[in-house]
Amino acid sequence: MLAGKKIVLGVTGGIAAYKAVDLASRLKKSGAEVRVVMTEAAAAFVRPLTFRTITGNPVHLRQFEEPRVWNVEHVALAEQADLVVVAPATAQTIACLALGLAPDLLATMLLAARSPILVAPAMNTAMYLHPATQEHLATLRARGVVLVGPEAGTLACGAEGPGRMSEPAEIAAAAERLLAGGGPLAGRQALVTAGGTRERLDPVRYIGNFSSGKMGYAVAESLAAAGATVTLVSAPTALAPPAGVRLLEAESALAMREAVLSCWETSEIVVMAAAVADYRPAAPATGKIRKTGGDFTLTLTENPDILAELGRRKQGQILVGFAAETGDGHARGLEKLRRKNADFLVLNDVTRPGAGFGADTNIVSFLYPDGQARELPLLSKREVAARITEEIIRLLPQ
Ligand code: C5P
Repeated sequence: MLAGKKIVLGVTGGIAAYKAVDLASRLKKSGAEVRVVMTEAAAAFVRPLTFRTITGNPVHLRQFEEPRVWNVEHVALAEQADLVVVAPATAQTIACLALGLAPDLLATMLLAARSPILVAPAMNTAMYLHPATQEHLATLRARGVVLVGPEAGTLACGAEGPGRMSEPAEIAAAAERLLAGGGPLAGRQALVTAGGTRERLDPVRYIGNFSSGKMGYAVAESLAAAGATVTLVSAPTALAPPAGVRLLEAESALAMREAVLSCWETSEIVVMAAAVADYRPAAPATGKIRKTGGDFTLTLTENPDILAELGRRKQGQILVGFAAETGDGHARGLEKLRRKNADFLVLNDVTRPGAGFGADTNIVSFLYPDGQARELPLLSKREVAARITEEIIRLLPQ
C-alpha cells in the first residue's frame, strides 16, 4: 500500500514511544521508506539503534550535531516527505506545532514540512484535557492536521481516561488512507454539516435539540475514506472529528450559514446532516434573564434555511438533505426535497426504535425528486453513511 512513499516518523518522549517501534515496522513492511526523527526525551525511552535497525536508516536526533549536512538534510527530509507521522505526540510537541515553535529538531522539521501531517497524541489524561492542549489540538485540526486518537483506558501513570496512544495498526491504517488518495472521490471537495445548533437566549442558556452529530460525522468519515477532501461544519457535539477532515465549528444557525457559505462554492458534494434550529430568540439578552415569579414569553424569529438557500444557488453540486420526522414523513419529506431543490433526501423517523438522535444505528429511506423512495433496513450509522457515499458516487457527473 505504501510502496515508494517517504514517511518521516517523529517520536517524542512518552512511554508509548515503545509502540512507535511497531508502527515503524508496519510502515516499513507496507513498503514505505521510513526516516525516524526522535526528541531527546524519546531517546530516553527507546534507543535510536532500535529504530535504525527496524527502518534500515540513520535516526535523526540532535539539531546541531555533526555531520553539518544534517541542517540542510532535515529541511530536505521535510520537503521530500510524502507524509509526516508524529507518534506518540506529547503535549509539548503538539503545542510547538500549534504555536510554530521550533526548539528541537523534530519541531523544526514539522515547521518545514509541506506534506500532510498525522499526529497520534499520547499523554496523561489531565494534560490531554487541559484547555491549552485542547486549544492546540483544535488549531491543528483546523489547519488540516490529521489526528488519530487518543483512546480512553488505563494509562501508564495509573489514571483512567483519554490519553492512550491509538494502536500502531490503526495509525498505520490512517497513514495508508491519507496516502492512498486514489478512492472514487479523490480530488473531489465535500462539505458536510452535523450536530444540533444552539440558539442563545442569554449568556448561560440556549435553545437546542437532541442531535448527537453521529450521522453527519459518519458521513464526513465515509466521504473522506472514499478519497474526498472533506470540510465538516459542526455544531457543538461530544465527538472527535474523523481523521483527515477539516473542521469548522459553528454554534448557531447563523454561524453555520456563514461557515457553509464560506466554502460551499468550491464543494461538489454537500451533505446537510445538521439539525438546524428553525427559530432563534429574537433578542438574546446580554445579561442573565432573571425569574419574575410569573410567566415568561420568549419571542422567536425564523432562521434562514441554509439548505434551501444552497438549493436556489446550486450549480451542478450534488446536494443531499436530511429530514427528521415523526410518523410517516414520506409526503413531508418529498415536499421538503423538492422545495429545497436537493438531489436526494435522507428521511428518518426519529421515533422508531434504533433510529434517530443519539443512537448508533438508523433506519432511513432515500427519497428522490421523481417521487421514488428506497427504504434501507436497520443499519449502523457508519453503514448508512457508506450507502449515502455510494449514492453520491452514482449521482456525480463523471
Ligand atoms: O425543514 P427541515 O429542518 O426538516 O429540513 C431538514 C434539512 O434542511 C436538513 O438537511 C437540514 O440540515 C436543513 N436545514 C437547513 N437550515 C435550516 C433548517 C434545516 O439547512 N434552517
